[in-house]
Amino acid sequence: MIIKTLGISTSPRIHGNSDLLLREALSGAESAGAKTEYIHLSDYDIAPCIECNACYSRGDCKIQDDFQQLLKKILDADRLIFATPVFFMTVCAQAKMLIDRSQCLWAYKYVLHKQLFSSERDRRAMVIAVGGSKSKKQFECIRFTMKSYFDVLDINYSTNLFTSKVDDIGEIHKHPTALKEAFRLGNELIAAESPPPQKPINIELF
Ligand SMILES: Cc1cc2nc3c(=O)[nH]c(=O)nc-3n(C[C@H](O)[C@H](O)[C@H](O)COP(=O)(O)O)c2cc1C
Repeated sequence: MIIKTLGISTSPRIHGNSDLLLREALSGAESAGAKTEYIHLSDYDIAPCIECNACYSRGDCKIQDDFQQLLKKILDADRLIFATPVFFMTVCAQAKMLIDRSQCLWAYKYVLHKQLFSSERDRRAMVIAVGGSKSKKQFECIRFTMKSYFDVLDINYSTNLFTSKVDDIGEIHKHPTALKEAFRLGNELIAAESPPPQKPINIELF
């Protein structure tokens, strides 16, 4: 079975640090036989959620933009690799806008009591985050936000790759292990045995 793997780079910087790690993780996934697709989120026109709550009765989002086509790719994927810079201790605004628009899935599941998938699927997700500071707390908000996002997407939160003290564009190239870890974890996301882990595997490079 071909494992479809979607990588979403949410940083506004192309070839920024999280973007480069994502590309490496996708290469790792490919080396394990996955079919991969890379997306730069800034190429998509995605408006913020306006809390109109139309999704509570419709089950989908009434704002028509690129969210619908991106959501289709996200739900279609067997593996999702989500890369973000740390901005003010959490995900960047671009990432948060995508996450918030998924409120329609929350409504679909928990207000309208419908199922996202008609059959059981082995879906797994990895988070890549990069922050400039040395604070050990800088990834804590990201953990909670991504857990709640992945719960709504019915996808297992399998892996974190968090790297601190990396700031300038492309500086990740100077990191002794981060790119290698991204490749390895991308490979393992595809090659790992079932069942998926109960808790995410945490690789924190402080
Ligand atoms: C608006 C903004 C907010 C930031 N906030 C934080 C922060 O709270 N903690 C941190 O460690 N780094 C912070 N940074 C630094 C970035 O996380 C860092 O430059 C990172 O390498 C960017 O990743 P990217 O190249 O993938 O975009 C911030 C940068 C910007 C532009």
